Amino acid sequence: MTGTVDVVAIDGPAGTGKSTVAGQLAQRVGAHYLDTGAMYRAATLAVLRAGIDPADDAATGPVVAAADIRVSAGADGATIATLDGADVSREIRTDEVTAAVSPVSANPVVREKLVALQREHAVDDFLVVEGRDIGTVVFPTAALKVYLTATPEARSERRHRQNLAAGRASDLDEVLASVNRRDHLDSTRAVSPLRPADDAVHVDTSDLTLQQVLDRLTELVGERIGVRDV
Ligand code: DC
Repeated sequence: MTGTVDVVAIDGPAGTGKSTVAGQLAQRVGAHYLDTGAMYRAATLAVLRAGIDPADDAATGPVVAAADIRVSAGADGATIATLDGADVSREIRTDEVTAAVSPVSANPVVREKLVALQREHAVDDFLVVEGRDIGTVVFPTAALKVYLTATPEARSERRHRQNLAAGRASDLDEVLASVNRRDHLDSTRAVSPLRPADDAVHVDTSDLTLQQVLDRLTELVGERIGVRDV
């Protein structure tokens, strides 16, 4: 890392509140926010649109390599994702994409491209980056690494409530099965499996409110990075 970039890496499995926490933390401390899961989701959408089997690495690699994927944060902090110039922010959150994202994100060609893209965001800046391998692979020298955890039940409950709030049909048992399936795939894949960095601070969010998690992380940013003029 260059001396001018401060990175807060937030990793952990699905449903720990990572996206909400990372986005709001970035706003609180005046950092840019990067949601790397949105990149893997946009890559998956490109694969689905091409009508290719998401598990066929030889076929998905070239499709993702040719795709123009961009992720940024809007004025309200929400993630904006574009694929080949068109806004796909909503489309990348569908069940179809969620069901296909694990095999696509296990493809080494896909990871190589997206990790390079993620590192391009670290230019003379203050960044909160959220994902699965940020502290271990993408930014191993991050000033602060946080590993968010929560029980599978607490995580499924949250995802279920988010689905309902967004007007999406949702079945709690199915959400739990999907969370367990993705955890297994994400943590057992050969390339960049989900695991905490040795120097990550673990925060279990099962019994914490969003405000409590944000307060804890803001405190950690203050200790490790200090208050930045941005
Ligand atoms: O955080 P999310 O649910 O939007 O992530 C979608 C998928 O992308 C998730 O199943 C794992 C994968 N992912 C990854 O492999 N590496 C990252 N840095 C971020 C997400």
